[in-house]
Amino acid sequence: MRILIASKIDPDAIATLSARHDVVTAIGAARPELERLMVDREALVFRSGLDIDRALLDAAPQLTTIVRAGSGLDNLDLAAVQARGIHLQRIPGPGARAVAELTFALFLGLARQVLIVDQQLRTGHWAKNEVVGWNLGGKTLGIVGLGSIGSTVARLGQGWDMRVVGCVDHPSPERTAKFAARDIELLTLEEVLEQSDFVSVHVPLGPDTRGLIGRAELARMKPRSFLVNIARGGVVDEAALLEALTNGERPTGAGLDVHVAEGEGKISPLAELPNVIVTPHIGATTVDAQREIGVEIVSIIEDRARSASEGPMSKDKAAVR
Ligand code: MLT
Repeated sequence: MRILIASKIDPDAIATLSARHDVVTAIGAARPELERLMVDREALVFRSGLDIDRALLDAAPQLTTIVRAGSGLDNLDLAAVQARGIHLQRIPGPGARAVAELTFALFLGLARQVLIVDQQLRTGHWAKNEVVGWNLGGKTLGIVGLGSIGSTVARLGQGWDMRVVGCVDHPSPERTAKFAARDIELLTLEEVLEQSDFVSVHVPLGPDTRGLIGRAELARMKPRSFLVNIARGGVVDEAALLEALTNGERPTGAGLDVHVAEGEGKISPLAELPNVIVTPHIGATTVDAQREIGVEIVSIIEDRARSASEGPMSKDKAAVR
């Protein structure tokens, strides 16, 4: 197959695919370059950080396969993909553990002021008598969105002896019972915000979730609480969060792996605050997760190459998974 790899993926996967296929890598390529490279490609592999819109798809008339090497579909024009009958496959599983672990890195960094005391000690200041720290154990962990990432966060939180509460977009008595069996209390979003010491957000970005955590929701959080957004920048209203944190309102601090504006040279307005930790959308970026994703990418491409060699792709073979 003629493949374009447009995002950083596991090097072993690139090597394996390159040995069997015509592979072009264009990691971090500018838009005109991407459009040029798409012209004869049959498969595209990508992650977050670039927009796969209709115009880009139009530049690739031979494209039959898209592999989203991760979970989110907010940077892909799904309608255009479906209209063209392009086969789309996501790989949401392997990143969940990595994202969940980074959630705790951010919570711990905030609760123990790790970055602040690190910076102070580098200048010779021994902050032992001033630093204020909090345990996670014994506190309430609130999870907004209990899909595979949120559920993994819940399990890890239980390992930290936290009480776990959460909310989902379509609650029902059956789902409440299902989560209760896993010691997760299903509440409304408002209740989650009001009861939790540590809140983490794990919902995809879409029309229903854009600005889900805004001024009113932040005001519901406990006076001493921490918020982590590791989902998508637009889910938390950055302006409202900046205002709340600047004014010393609730929450006490925030960990943000995702931002409204992402990429080289882009700096979140929240980065100027000491009670904020910012990371560059690295939730799923562990060697372990990317290795697993890489194995799945190779397997998907091989399946597609096999189907293509067996006969022309019919519309009914095209699917979104
Ligand atoms: C995802 O949606 O899987 C994550 O944002 C990881 C990524 O694509 O970088």
